[in-house]
Amino acid sequence: MTDRYAVLGNPIAHSKSPLIHAAFSSQTGQDIHYERILVPLDGFEATVRELITQGYRGVNVTVPFKFEAFRLADETTLRAGDAGAVNTLIFNQTNVVGDNTDGAGLVRDIEVNLNRPIQAQRVLLLGAGGAAEGVLHPLLERKPSLLVIANRTLEKAQTMIAKRPTSDTELAGCAFNDLSGQQFDIVINATSAGLTNAALPIPPTVYAADGLAYDMMYGHDTPFMQQARETGAWAVDGLGMLVEQAAEAFYVWRGVRPETIPVMTMVRSLLTC
Ligand code: ATR
Repeated sequence: MTDRYAVLGNPIAHSKSPLIHAAFSSQTGQDIHYERILVPLDGFEATVRELITQGYRGVNVTVPFKFEAFRLADETTLRAGDAGAVNTLIFNQTNVVGDNTDGAGLVRDIEVNLNRPIQAQRVLLLGAGGAAEGVLHPLLERKPSLLVIANRTLEKAQTMIAKRPTSDTELAGCAFNDLSGQQFDIVINATSAGLTNAALPIPPTVYAADGLAYDMMYGHDTPFMQQARETGAWAVDGLGMLVEQAAEAFYVWRGVRPETIPVMTMVRSLLTC
């Protein structure tokens, strides 16, 4: 029998997840069906309960329900607990487990696909919202020498830092205008500024000469990517992270790790045509 999965969000029409999971399914021979479901803003829990009743095996969760999914789960994985948010729910016979594959997806895209180590590098994380929270711990696990969180609202960056246990990585929180004179090997944009095509007020000197500038958004050339490219940095969008977080969810559900590069190529070709 075909196992059913879905991605839940609002809005959801733009989601590439059904396409990605369909590709994983045919590549691995796993018999699954994956659809997108538009969930009313006040109807997340009711929708999840209904899907469980119907025999679905799990769901992915996107904006704006990742925190609600965290609260709904009977149990959460360590990485979901660290993020305080859930993007993957696993419907077991007796309970609902919440996981978060976003950070693993980002780290895998940077280290494996882009072949850039994070260990011993100077990393700048821009933003202190849900997207930044979701990737902070997995980034720290890779042991960068320095990780600075810069945010428009300084207090939110400071709060994120204060919640972290001490680690070998030097950690700091700052405002954008404190970044002058600092330079980073990897700069990750986890703000939502790209959604409105807004430029970030960060000095172009933050990018090291052959540094990596990674925008967690995908599908369009953001002002952040344009600025980074103009300074000679390697500007990359978040399509790889999108596919890798999906692959990690597929692995969690099915115990099989799909190949991601051909799927990235396929999704990229659809975006550019
Ligand atoms: P998400 O789940 O996408 O992280 P969020 O939790 O609302 O969404 O966080 C959005 C992040 O993008 C925040 O860090 C926000 O900065 P503030 O904390 O100061 O609000 C940042 N952001 C959004 N628009 C921005 C802009 N135009 N310039 C700079 N930062 C922006």
